[in-house]
Amino acid sequence: MALSQLPQLGFDEAGKIMNDPKIIVALDFSDHRQAIEFSRKTTPELCRLKVGKELFTSAGPALVEALVNSGFDVFLDLKFHDIPNTVNKAVAAAAKLGVWMLNVHAMGGVPMMRAAREGVELADQRPFLIAVTVLTSMSPADLRALGINTPLTQLVDQLARKAIECGLDGVVCSAQESPGLRASIGESALLVTPGIRPEWAAANDQQRIVTPQQALSNGASYLVIGRPITQHPEPAEALRLITESIS
Ligand code: C5P
Repeated sequence: MALSQLPQLGFDEAGKIMNDPKIIVALDFSDHRQAIEFSRKTTPELCRLKVGKELFTSAGPALVEALVNSGFDVFLDLKFHDIPNTVNKAVAAAAKLGVWMLNVHAMGGVPMMRAAREGVELADQRPFLIAVTVLTSMSPADLRALGINTPLTQLVDQLARKAIECGLDGVVCSAQESPGLRASIGESALLVTPGIRPEWAAANDQQRIVTPQQALSNGASYLVIGRPITQHPEPAEALRLITESIS
């Protein structure tokens, strides 16, 4: 996709992309109040915000609309996975909330991903649509237990290629997988990477962590970061430190 076709990016007079913050803060809070409180500590110029299943289930579309109306780019991380017709309608409803990015499971299959791609077209401004390949919480043994014998890295690569063939904009992946995927699905694909930890932050339950700088040099497009920012005593300061480290 040509850069000029990417949705919601501003361009200055020289044609350079303006205001494309690389950090997506995972708002893993349990309610509306905490999420809005956090959003008031930052600005859309500094970061984007991710609303996941817990927060969406408790706070609903009204929270997403409130964040969008405050000027934030919102990644609605609901990982849709259902029959094509249902996903088409769910994606269309999500896109109408004005979100910047949303996602589906590549494991839903080619017809489902194509139906999702058609669904996002119904929004006034098309959001980015990306696919989860294999959840980073799954090990090769977990796959084998489900009867999936393809080696994990090969499966990730195969699913990512299918996502791009279906017209999706990119994938969610570990920054450790980014160099291989960048080579396989190309320079314009979006690689959105969780599991990011600055040196000063605790790993928590993440197993395969990468620093913000390393993730970007591995080819990541955007960094999903939650607890190192949201659980920091001074969240705005944590965001500033990470932003500085990648500037
Ligand atoms: O707090 P932390 O930085 O670990 O948060 C990472 C975020 O990214 C969480 O919202 C988590 O659900 C999400 N995520 C992940 N691994 C994936 C996909 C999403 O950690 N494979």
